[in-house]
Amino acid sequence: MSRAPSLSPLPQPAADASGVIELRGVWTRYRETLIHRALDFTARQGEVISLIGGSGSGKTTLLRVILGLTAPAQGEVRLFGESLHHASLAQRQALRRRLGMLFQQGALFSALSVYDNIAFPLRELGFLDEGWIRENVRLKLNMVGLDFGQAALTPAELSGGMIKRVALARALAIEPELLLLDEPTAGLDPPRSRSFVRLIRELQEMLRLTVVLVTHDVETIRGLESSVAVLAEQRVLRQGSIAEITAWDHPATREFFLSAPNP
Ligand SMILES: Nc1ncnc2c1ncn2[C@@H]1O[C@H](COP(=O)(O)OP(=O)(O)OP(=O)(O)O)[C@@H](O)[C@H]1O
Ligand SMILES: [Mg+2]
Repeated sequence: MSRAPSLSPLPQPAADASGVIELRGVWTRYRETLIHRALDFTARQGEVISLIGGSGSGKTTLLRVILGLTAPAQGEVRLFGESLHHASLAQRQALRRRLGMLFQQGALFSALSVYDNIAFPLRELGFLDEGWIRENVRLKLNMVGLDFGQAALTPAELSGGMIKRVALARALAIEPELLLLDEPTAGLDPPRSRSFVRLIRELQEMLRLTVVLVTHDVETIRGLESSVAVLAEQRVLRQGSIAEITAWDHPATREFFLSAPNP
């Protein structure tokens, strides 16, 4: 599988050694509710990091902050070495093209076919011809193990595992360097979950992606050979290898790891 040419017409500054994502002193609120308090988080080029934490602890919100969909009340968000806050609209759009996101519920457009779902972010760019888009949709379907013959189906005609694959193909459509995945294996049965994790791992290696995912599933963390960041007490309380986090005796992780058998 070869990588399609870069879609960005703008020069892309290289991420420096300090990180693809750097959050410093981030405070996020929804009205009066404080979600993140002085939160720091770093992801470096090629890292795979699983974000864990209780339900409602602010994991999805953290991904939204990284995506620039939710603005923090305070603090700095840097992507590929550039500050989101100080970026112009054009710079923000260019940065966003370097990110792919798989949303918590798959979130495909139900009225659009598989083809149109994957083509959507490409058409949004506004400068690609339909022939190129078609080839790119074919390539991305192939990457996630689906057949171009399935491109005419609508989301209602897909199994849960297929929806995840199409959502992943759509997230990869713009050739991102950073992939954000919110609960990628939730709702899949164990064999489908394992096969989806293998697929993410293969694509991460092949495309040299930096991946930040939210998960409740220890098998997913192990399968991705991911490091772990623990979101608790409104910040990333600890970040380390799975062995380090497992050995850390804290209420936020105790329940999480107790529920899963060791390999
Ligand atoms: N758009 C919003 N407006 C107001 N409050 C919100 C909004 N989105 C999320 N919240 C609240 O912010 C808190 C954090 O939500 P978030 O979705 O980030 O949690 P989460 O850690 O992803 O949870 P889960 O594991 O259940 O997906 C929750 O209390 C939620 O109700
Ligand atoms: Mg969530």
